[in-house]
Amino acid sequence: MEVEFEPLAPHWREDPHPIHRQLRDRDPVHWAPESGMYCISRHEDVSRALKDPEAFSSAAMNSVLTDLGPIGPRLALALVGFLLRTRVDPFEMQRRGSLISMDAPRHDALRAIVSRGFSPRRIAAWEGRARRIVTEALADLRPGIPFDLIERVAVPLPVTIIAEMLGVEPERQRDFKRWSDAIVAVASGPARGNPAASGLLREFSALYVYLRDCARERRSAPADDLVSLLVDPSQEDALDELDVIQFVVLLLVAGNETTTNLIGNMVQLLIEREDVLRRVVDDPCVAPAVVEETLRYESPIQLVFRQATREVELRGTRIPKDAVLALLLGSANRDERVFPEPDRFDLDRDTKGHLAFGFGPHFCMGASLARLEARVALECLAPELLHCKRVGGASPWVDSFLVRGPARLELERQG
Ligand code: HEM
Repeated sequence: MEVEFEPLAPHWREDPHPIHRQLRDRDPVHWAPESGMYCISRHEDVSRALKDPEAFSSAAMNSVLTDLGPIGPRLALALVGFLLRTRVDPFEMQRRGSLISMDAPRHDALRAIVSRGFSPRRIAAWEGRARRIVTEALADLRPGIPFDLIERVAVPLPVTIIAEMLGVEPERQRDFKRWSDAIVAVASGPARGNPAASGLLREFSALYVYLRDCARERRSAPADDLVSLLVDPSQEDALDELDVIQFVVLLLVAGNETTTNLIGNMVQLLIEREDVLRRVVDDPCVAPAVVEETLRYESPIQLVFRQATREVELRGTRIPKDAVLALLLGSANRDERVFPEPDRFDLDRDTKGHLAFGFGPHFCMGASLARLEARVALECLAPELLHCKRVGGASPWVDSFLVRGPARLELERQG
């Protein structure tokens, strides 16, 4: 029997898990007429699509997430304004996409270049810095004073690290967060289909101009940072300016919103689970298991999109060429066929095979950085959380069909 579900609609945001279960059980290849896409909810099918880029193109990441809606006079004016301010054709920018929406061979070539900036040695070097950021933030956690963990820790940690990795000025960090929030809101939240009204194109042009100046500066005076590595003219395969900017924008969003939500989800789960907190305090070696189970249990990226490059059949459903598929990562990670009792947060379970970072050629490039940041945050936070309680009532979820995490999380230290 069919289930009613629209992956882009807000109705299920509060608690998507019951509807995901219905989909897995009764309608695993679900046609959502309003969103115009097939929703794939079982782990086996989501994995199959992720690892077969020849049949399932990533172009849909671009077509769905940068869909500007109908171009009325207001949007047309905003697009012209963007062109004048940046000298970049917004349609060329949209057509070109970025790493996440490319297919082979361009994807593989670009990924080989940019992954140099994410070597295990480079990532591990950020551990001390991450610890200092969290420790400094926690100095403000005082008895009786509400402390919004999202604003004070979960936002600044990834935004500071990514800004420092890229080599942008620290005073632009606030802008970075504003820009990445605006992108998420237009791609997947309340401003979707209305970027002109949201002022996004103006924000976006400021971001583009800033990043372009940054790239040009590094080309003439390289430093030890990611932007310098990307624009290094001695590399034969150096990227052109637009590729660099598109990639940095991707990092900004992918590297920020996701990790913020992972940390928010983790603390939201642990503040209710004193036993888990005690285990982390007694034995910090369990911290990575907490991070993995959080990724599985409340996946920060709920879905990704693919486009069928030819007609394919999935569980008896014929999916026509060019159809768009929503691969429900959050549902796959709660699939009882792979994770027994999936709705139980269980530190001792085997989380291998969770799809929170995707799978296959587009597997998250920042996974080890996200894991490091979340683990360090947990190690620093756990002893404090034992003395905190949640205040300010239930927190709203971030208003997005793409990312999942609490928008606020107010804590108060007790004594
Ligand atoms: C908890 C944190 C994170 C989660 C849940 C997450 C999730 C994901 C997922 C699901 C994908 C695959 C998209 C697809 O298959 O279409 C992806 C790709 C990607 N992620 Fe992450 N991500 C996180 C953190 C980060 C960080 C910290 C960075 C960088 C600083 C990053 C950079 C990227 C990039 C560049 C890609 C594109 C890779 C490609 O297309 O080859 N991510 N991420």
